[in-house]
Amino acid sequence: MSDAAPTTIYLKDYTPFGYLIDSVHLTFDLAAHATRVTSRIAFRPNPDARDRKFFLHGEQLRLIRAAIDGAEIAPEVTDEGLTANVPNAPFVWETEVEIDPGNNTALEGLYMSNGMYCTQCEAEGFRKITFYPDRPDVMSTFTVRINGDLPVLLSNGNPTASGQGWAEWTDPWPKPAYLFALVAGDLIAYPDQFTTKSDRGVELNLWVRPGDEGKCAFGMEALKKSMKWDEEVYGREYDLDVFNIVAVDDFNMGAMENKGLNIFNSSAVLASPETSTDANFERIEAIIAHEYFHNWTGNRITCRDWFQLCLKEGLTVFRDAQFTSDMRSAPVKRIHDAIDLRARQFPEDNGPLSHPVRPESFQEINNFYTSTVYEKGAEVIGMLKRLVGDEAYSKALNLYFDRHDGQACTIEDWLKVFEDTTGRDLTQFKRWYSQSGTPRISVSESWDSGTYTLTLSQETHPTPGQSEKLPQVIPVAFGLLGPNGDEVRGTQVLELTEATQSFQFTGLAAKPIPSILRDFSAPVILDHGHSNADRAFLLAHDTDPFNRWQAGRSLAEDNLFRMITQDSAPDGQFLDGLLAVLRDGDLDPAYRALMLQLPSQSELASTLYDSGHTPDPLAIWTAIETLKQATAQHVQDLLPRLHSESLVDAPYQPDAEQSGKRALGNAALALTTRLDSGTQAAAEYDRANNMTQQLASLACLLRAGKGETQLSSFYDQWQHDRLVLDKWFGLQISLTSPDATPAVALGLTQHPEFNWKNPNRFRALLGSLATNHAGFHHADGSGYQLLADWLIRLDPVNPQTTARMCTAFQTWKRYDDKRQALMRAQLTRISETPNLSRDTTEMVSRILDA
Ligand code: TRP
Ligand code: ZN
Repeated sequence: MSDAAPTTIYLKDYTPFGYLIDSVHLTFDLAAHATRVTSRIAFRPNPDARDRKFFLHGEQLRLIRAAIDGAEIAPEVTDEGLTANVPNAPFVWETEVEIDPGNNTALEGLYMSNGMYCTQCEAEGFRKITFYPDRPDVMSTFTVRINGDLPVLLSNGNPTASGQGWAEWTDPWPKPAYLFALVAGDLIAYPDQFTTKSDRGVELNLWVRPGDEGKCAFGMEALKKSMKWDEEVYGREYDLDVFNIVAVDDFNMGAMENKGLNIFNSSAVLASPETSTDANFERIEAIIAHEYFHNWTGNRITCRDWFQLCLKEGLTVFRDAQFTSDMRSAPVKRIHDAIDLRARQFPEDNGPLSHPVRPESFQEINNFYTSTVYEKGAEVIGMLKRLVGDEAYSKALNLYFDRHDGQACTIEDWLKVFEDTTGRDLTQFKRWYSQSGTPRISVSESWDSGTYTLTLSQETHPTPGQSEKLPQVIPVAFGLLGPNGDEVRGTQVLELTEATQSFQFTGLAAKPIPSILRDFSAPVILDHGHSNADRAFLLAHDTDPFNRWQAGRSLAEDNLFRMITQDSAPDGQFLDGLLAVLRDGDLDPAYRALMLQLPSQSELASTLYDSGHTPDPLAIWTAIETLKQATAQHVQDLLPRLHSESLVDAPYQPDAEQSGKRALGNAALALTTRLDSGTQAAAEYDRANNMTQQLASLACLLRAGKGETQLSSFYDQWQHDRLVLDKWFGLQISLTSPDATPAVALGLTQHPEFNWKNPNRFRALLGSLATNHAGFHHADGSGYQLLADWLIRLDPVNPQTTARMCTAFQTWKRYDDKRQALMRAQLTRISETPNLSRDTTEMVSRILDA
């Protein structure tokens, strides 16, 4: 459709819309292939705008009628919207359009999923529902009437009237169109209620398809915990009579924070012990919290334009991380977040798709719902909080909510509340929002009769569009340990603001060992310059749980690095340190399980590439396998004890304590499987009475090249459950030997249950291929080709999901010439596909332009 040259939109070009909206009335007459949408919108000229051009977005709409103040008009309509002449005074705008939700496979706008109508309007989906100024700074109250022959008819706000075959909803809070939602279907409620701190009763419902009622309890508890937490920690109360959540099977992302009517990917809300792993439960709790927290950070205070996306997403991710830390273990959450940031955000920030936390231009906004905007955006808030302190942070947040409630805001507004609260000049700090790339910190130290000097230097490599980088404000949490392991300087925050800066510590009895970047206080790449002896020392003694874990991680990484580049063997320093940690029964099992997790293949590929080596995927895979085997042998005697420490005799609960035990037990099982060729794993599989145990033992077997019978009985047991079947698809591709991965994936694409138009199923199969490092990078290029084949097939059906999955190729320039050529060929083939979507065109051209 959009064959025209792609247009780029710039932050600097922002201008307000020429009109304000006082109210919106929508009527939906639902029909699968001919839904009628009638709008009545009260516009008036915006006194703060100069440009009075009246343009309404609208895509894939059949215009039936348009009128101004009751008089029919004939507006000029293009593929992108309509233009009309309107009075220079308040007027009532009416249109009637027809849309086809039954053929909407892109899952943006109004679409159908298993016979149920639902919507996804962020970022620019509302324009596929009716003509409207579809931009977040245009806010209005909405009244919605739904006519449809379905038992459940939902929209935003409070229910205000209903009858047989119709319902009316009114949302009293002004909102932008991207927060609009409608759901209609044969749904079942899982009800509950919540009383807010000012005694307002709220009716809660989780709406699911018949058959899923048994998977609602956990999500509902998570919602109530989130509501309570936001009252206690941020003083934020809920503001409607009802809060509805709907589970939908076909969804492009995790979930969406529509006002009073959150819509969730069923994988992000439905859970039961039999069908969901501990990790699934934790993720669901976090996503429920995230969407709920958006009610204040996103909905009550929204974004002026999409360049400000991190205003709501970075802050809301930060808030959900705080929530998870409070509900579970703070150090474990911090370590998980660092692992994820390094796995996803660092490659993005240091490759062709690198962009600032607040981008300055885009072609397709859907392509900027990235790990940089979300996760690095959250890290920036964490740094700000660390710099100003907890008390100032909460004062600044209160000011933010007071000052900006009901507004569409910018990062400037956000930073201003911190400046006004603290008197601090945040000009340099603001570079975190505009400068892309991951800062790299290097360390040197000196010791001179009682005085220890630490010198930190920062450098950021050039990124697309930004060749010069300026120093950033980097809070480096830091402590010093004495040679006997005692802490001689407790944690303090060093503020690194210059390219190079020294910090002195006097009055020390002996040369200390530094613990730098405690709690992962900034999203940077730190080259400690530590010797392995220092690392082993920190692994044994650091009081900061993050850095203690990091020391073990660095030892493992260094060992793997030398195994790959110098043919070294697994070494004692890492293995002995690990053994000591595992033996320490006082340490949280979850934490010990994390200690056992080696760096991922792709993380090693990054490290190798950064130090001037060309990563060889098979060599990386082999080194990791070898080190795991050596670990198994080294800790062999301890494995029975770890197993018994991991046993839970209480009924299954997906809480931090039980999941930590299971994580440790399953990490031990993985090692045991390397020694007993699967006897124990097979027994565990037979005994498993929850999905965590069942999947972990099956994974152990598959990794050992066994488990064929278990895999097929798993299929027989779970073929009726779409979410478990996603796991069945993914597991096989993640765990075959690299040589077989592309062929196994290809075979599964022929499976009758490979419903490729369902994003969860597509991701389960092709996403697992893309994240199996050695398998995807198979030397013959078959992994690349298979992924490209399917991206080309999916693009006309679902551009958003296709574009997102192109990121599998973002690191193509790291590899050897042969692999580069193979990847380039596939990227070129995708880019030359006729009628390629705007989403995918932008992604592929950015990746290729590297
Ligand atoms: N705003 C959603 C969130 O909570 C993200 C989201 C859901 C989204 N669906 C989307 C973004 C579709 C773009 C397109 O993070
Ligand atoms: Zn969000």
